[in-house]
Amino acid sequence: MHQGRLCCYVYERRRAQTAPAICFDHLERTMKLAILRAGATLAFAFSSSVVAADEQMLELATASGCFICHTVAPPAGSSVALAPAYEQVAARYRDDPEALGYLVDRVLKGTAYQDQNWGGAVNMRFMPPNVNVDREDADKLVGWILSLEGAPDSALQRHEGALALAATNGCMICHEMNPLQGVKAIPLAPSFREIAAYYDGKPEAREHLLDSVKNGTVTKPKIWENVNMRFMPPNISLRDEDVATLVDWVMALEHEGVTAHPTEVKPGQN
Ligand code: HEC
Ligand code: HEC
Repeated sequence: MHQGRLCCYVYERRRAQTAPAICFDHLERTMKLAILRAGATLAFAFSSSVVAADEQMLELATASGCFICHTVAPPAGSSVALAPAYEQVAARYRDDPEALGYLVDRVLKGTAYQDQNWGGAVNMRFMPPNVNVDREDADKLVGWILSLEGAPDSALQRHEGALALAATNGCMICHEMNPLQGVKAIPLAPSFREIAAYYDGKPEAREHLLDSVKNGTVTKPKIWENVNMRFMPPNISLRDEDVATLVDWVMALEHEGVTAHPTEVKPGQN
């Protein structure tokens, strides 16, 4: 499969680069996922105004596979990135009134056999067509990219880092960030914002979740209904510090207006 080979290629290129600034290592899984999910299950309908627009766009770009090649900020030092950083794209096109339509087209169709606008500045010769992205999402993504100004603030950088950590460790194979909306399908697992809502203010939530993420939930009373999997398998290969980073991140996610759907645990029920 063409996309699959491309992913491996990108991954190998990434591994060959030693630059620590490249923080989206082997996201090829995300890309496959994004392709699998193209359309319905991407369901990006959740739009609480409290969830910062930037966070939502980072999530959409992650799910769309853009960060396999791009980063938001340019890499530090002298390493050459695979693709232009979004801040560089913004700086170049911000004042061009035609840029939105032009770039949306480039994103959808890819740039092979067309002008090479970043030749010499980046390591890849062209962007392949992003076949898993529809025009509406491409519009949103490019609009967001063009709005970027200056370095992302530290909260956004943390969100970017945690998203990448979750994606590389396979969390997003089962979890969505937001509850599915307008889709009949039952999700595999509770969305991260529902988890944040459910555990908000509960004592010992952190200890409980550290244990759930590390060791899985098979031995625990069932907490989540409306999900398709009975339990979460242990995430044994995850380092303890990454477990903590992920749990703290999930717990701190904005979740105003999000309703969690936990199972009533009745006495005597396991
Ligand atoms: C496989 C790697 C790859 C992926 C995945 C990818 N891009 Fe690109 N992108 C590139 C490269 C390489 C360029 C530079 C092309 C050039 O030199 O004209 C580029 C350029 C761009 C540009 C600037 C185009 C121009 O003409 O200046 C935008 C905007 C962009 N990408 C957005 C996206 C978005 C949004 C996504 C996800 C939906 C995405 N890209 C996914 C590699 C990629
Ligand atoms: C194979 C699918 C799968 C993967 C991969 C997965 N989860 Fe889960 N996760 C689930 C399911 C299913 C539940 C609900 C479990 C239940 O109802 O007992 C869950 C529940 C959770 C919970 C809430 C646990 C609780 O006790 O309420 C957290 C937090 C969580 N997952 C985080 C993560 C993180 C972080 C990762 C990546 C390191 C991850 N999950 C990977 C399927 C998965």
